[in-house]
Amino acid sequence: MMIAITGTPGTGKTHLSKELTKRGYKVLDLNDHIRRNGLLEDKDEERDTYCVDVDSLDISLDEHRTKDLTFIEGHISHCVSCDMAIVLRCSPDILAERLKCRGYSDGKVAENVQAEILDVILCEASEADMPVYELDSSDDSPESIADKVTDILAGNTDKYRPGNIDWTGELEKWF
Ligand SMILES: Nc1ncnc2c1ncn2[C@@H]1O[C@H](COP(=O)(O)OP(=O)(O)OP(=O)(O)O)[C@@H](O)[C@H]1O
Ligand SMILES: [Mg+2]
Repeated sequence: MMIAITGTPGTGKTHLSKELTKRGYKVLDLNDHIRRNGLLEDKDEERDTYCVDVDSLDISLDEHRTKDLTFIEGHISHCVSCDMAIVLRCSPDILAERLKCRGYSDGKVAENVQAEILDVILCEASEADMPVYELDSSDDSPESIADKVTDILAGNTDKYRPGNIDWTGELEKWF
């Protein structure tokens, strides 16, 4: 069983993953997996990102499709075949602050915040044939978010269905 932990860069996937690992769950860092398996393709200079062939990535994950649970974390984890996707969300101002702290340029901050406001990753994940849930990391600790993940695993999913998180009130500020 494979569960994707996805979301716009800066929404807290890696922080949550560290907490899940601490609790004994198996978590695969997808960026690391992509590098180790030579799956990086050409660089998109304009966007300062690398391309990845999703079909090759999907095949490379076959060994993790066992009955045991593996979380795969990364902002393209929802693009491969999974049993569920958990989309981390973050309110625009807090996300911008987190990305600025990383030294991202204003352009890169805006690009990511705009994608978050437009629900880009949530929409992409929802197009696949798997249940999708969303968790807001804006004012919630990794420990508390991990508790919510275990709640989802226990089948208490109603609260986390997409639709409750809406950043469109921030549209004018960021577009
Ligand atoms: N639950 C949280 N509460 C407060 N701050 C958080 C939380 N999760 C992450 N952060 C902060 O946000 C920043 C980004 O977190 P993190 O690296 O986990 O994001 P990410 O989703 O893994 O990003 P990327 O896709 O670029 O790897 C970190 O600097 C961290 O301090
Ligand atoms: Mg990360």
